Amino acid sequence: MTRVTVVGAGFVGMTCAQRLAEQEIAEEIVLIDVIEGRPQGIALDLNQAAAVLGYQAKVVGTNDPADTSGSDLFIMTAGLPRKPGMDRSDLVEVNGKIINAVADYIKAGSPESKVIVVSNPLDTMVYLMAERLGFDKKRVVGMAGVLDSARMAFFISDALGGGVADARCMVLGGHGDSMVPMPQFSTMDGVSVTALLPDAQVDAINARTQHGGAEIVNLLKTGSAYYAPAAAAVAMAKSILRNERRLLPSAASLDGQYGLSGIYMGVPCVLGSNGVERIVELELDDAGMAKLNASADAIRKDIETLREKGLL
Ligand code: 2OP
Repeated sequence: MTRVTVVGAGFVGMTCAQRLAEQEIAEEIVLIDVIEGRPQGIALDLNQAAAVLGYQAKVVGTNDPADTSGSDLFIMTAGLPRKPGMDRSDLVEVNGKIINAVADYIKAGSPESKVIVVSNPLDTMVYLMAERLGFDKKRVVGMAGVLDSARMAFFISDALGGGVADARCMVLGGHGDSMVPMPQFSTMDGVSVTALLPDAQVDAINARTQHGGAEIVNLLKTGSAYYAPAAAAVAMAKSILRNERRLLPSAASLDGQYGLSGIYMGVPCVLGSNGVERIVELELDDAGMAKLNASADAIRKDIETLREKGLL
């Protein structure tokens, strides 16, 4: 039996549980949260929806970490979201404490599991999770590139008047303002977007992609995006659990790739049953490398904050 635990029953977590159940990606989905009653209520609701939709997955809501034991995969969504005007980095300390507490029960009860981190600031939180777990770093990966690429894909298809299903985009670097959209590696069904749209429009789409999360935070006023983040995390989970080996931009531990080491950052990854099966190194020009290095510097600054606060 495949068991997936979703940590955090906020909007991202509950939407992950819904997609996992509806797509029958795991037989059992454990939804855990510290708020009493919330994960249990969502689980009951989702199990009743199965009577209409006919899916076979069972959802278990709990507040007890022991109930997550033996999970094959975790999707870590717990943590505070940004408020309007906040940077993802403003969440380092508060969400870092939550990551450490969750890592401890993952390690104790599910030592063979894989972990997808969604909590922000993403690249720093996935780094902390991997350090605290001490697992092979291939088994710990962060969700951001799939989401950022999806945002870019939507903006491009919208500018072209449709065809979102054929838009394939690549966004590298950290999941913050310093992320690096790569129009030269983005296509509409194989045709480079740089050949389809004028430069100025591509530049505007790159900038909108970089601030894609904040755009939604500002519209919602409370909370942040959840449909696309959950879709992205579940696509990664599916690629790992079903060994699909999809090439998905994800935050992976770098060990010399792109000339960087000792950080997690968004790079193209093949995700399969071992987690990150391969990191693909794209040939970047000097400007692209400079942007990636700037993004790495921003992540290192947050890791330094973790150290200063005694969380690492
Ligand atoms: C976003 O970009 C929540 O960081 C997430 O929407």
